[in-house]
Amino acid sequence: MKKKLSEEQEILALKRAAKYRREFLGNVSHELKTPIFNIQGYIHTLIDGALEDPNVNKKYLLRTSKSIDRLISIIEDLEILANLESDELLMDVTDWDLIDLVNELFEFFEIKSSEKNIKLSLDSNFDTFFVLADKEKINQVLVNLISNSIKYGKEGGSITIKIEKKEKNSLIHVVDDGIGISSENISRVFERFYRVDKGRSRSQGGTGLGLAIVKHIIEAHEQEIDISSQVNKGTAISFTLKNSIK
Ligand SMILES: Nc1ncnc2c1ncn2[C@@H]1O[C@H](COP(=O)(O)OP(=O)(O)OP(=O)(O)O)[C@@H](O)[C@H]1O
Ligand SMILES: [Mg+2]
Repeated sequence: MKKKLSEEQEILALKRAAKYRREFLGNVSHELKTPIFNIQGYIHTLIDGALEDPNVNKKYLLRTSKSIDRLISIIEDLEILANLESDELLMDVTDWDLIDLVNELFEFFEIKSSEKNIKLSLDSNFDTFFVLADKEKINQVLVNLISNSIKYGKEGGSITIKIEKKEKNSLIHVVDDGIGISSENISRVFERFYRVDKGRSRSQGGTGLGLAIVKHIIEAHEQEIDISSQVNKGTAISFTLKNSIK
């Protein structure tokens, strides 16, 4: 009797995995279709005569190039997810200074944030703050979070990274004063391909993979992540990282 139940459970798990794969493939092909059809449209227009028209030929080529960039970024995100989900996920855990990384990232995002007049600041009582984690992966986490805060931030707003020291695992908060997320959407934003406002997100180049990647990386570190948000007030995403013993 016991064996039968576990067989049933196994079948259920397999069915769930098959459903997940089907949905995932459906989502992927849907996301890839938009830029591919755009490229096809621009190329056809060029072949049909626009190539000879100096007023539009460059415009269509630039749009083609933008759609190709979009395809590349979707594929890069899918690659990151595939790597994170593979059984032999390689973690390269070392000791490194989080403050250093945050400052590097603020420099990296300087132009993007200034386009929207968004101020980036660090709230920490430390000159250095060593953590034990995979630096490249946490870099990816912060890139995804900061770029969301800019993307869904308001003109003239601010983004603060706050480091809160705790005994074993410290808390890192990424806080913005942007458009926020409603309570019915908040529980779903970590799902793959989930976007609150599909139109707006896509026009900003969003696939809905950013937060799924973030959650995966934090869980691979056996750490925790939490989100709180209020529409028109802002969003705070907090995650823990292991303190270094240094
Ligand atoms: N800081 C934020 N403020 C408001 N909404 C947010 C914020 N971060 C995420 N969201 C909402 O959650 C959704 C999922 O975020 P996620 O980063 O996974 O996807 P994306 O930004 O749409 O696309 P991608 O990151 O793949 O380019 C977004 O579409 C957006 O609606
Ligand atoms: Mg994102």
